[in-house]
Amino acid sequence: MKFFIDTADIEEIKTAHAWGILDGVTTNPSLISKTGRPFKDVVYDIVKIVDGPISVETTSDDAKSLIVEGQTFAKIHKNVVVKVALTQNGLKACKALSSDGIAVNVTLCFSAVQALLAAKSGAAYISPFIGRLDDISEDGMKLIQDIVQIYKNYNFSTQILAASIRHPVHVLQAALAGAHVATIPFKVLQQLFHHPLTDRGLDQFLKDWKKVPK
Ligand code: E4P
Repeated sequence: MKFFIDTADIEEIKTAHAWGILDGVTTNPSLISKTGRPFKDVVYDIVKIVDGPISVETTSDDAKSLIVEGQTFAKIHKNVVVKVALTQNGLKACKALSSDGIAVNVTLCFSAVQALLAAKSGAAYISPFIGRLDDISEDGMKLIQDIVQIYKNYNFSTQILAASIRHPVHVLQAALAGAHVATIPFKVLQQLFHHPLTDRGLDQFLKDWKKVPK
């Protein structure tokens, strides 16, 4: 399973990259806006740190403008993946960009039939938002499981990128369901490392090691 970090915060990206477990980065307009910096500066910084897919989200209205915006993003760096929302215009743009060899991440996916449309439009990634579904009392993980099954049925090459992850159990369940990628907020990435028995065990080992004659 690939791990992407879901942030535009450069310090968080540097820290996670240094752990050696990072395969890529996803950003969105809200995450970029939190940095208070021009988006291109942020993207240039990210591509220098992580040598893997970096999703950058389009915000245009119509399909033609989305395509132009996507083409411009793709020119920034070979690792840039163009993010489009799962709308009719977004999927039109996805089809055009992917036919031109530009990788597209279709975002804001909340149903399995939407994911089917994205795969048919040539998406490199589909981003089902697990946490936001859980927030409204729907089962986000069931969506991941359904998409895994549908893509298997028809041999789609679109990768399932579990998004809107809120806690380590989301990562566990997405991995068990067979999602190709999880995009994980920094805080949750940190949580993945921790187990109280690891801390307690290490503490005891270090105490005992001090008693060993050297
Ligand atoms: C995915 O690429 C999105 O940036 C993200 O996972 C959205 O998560 P949120 O629901 O925590 O905003």
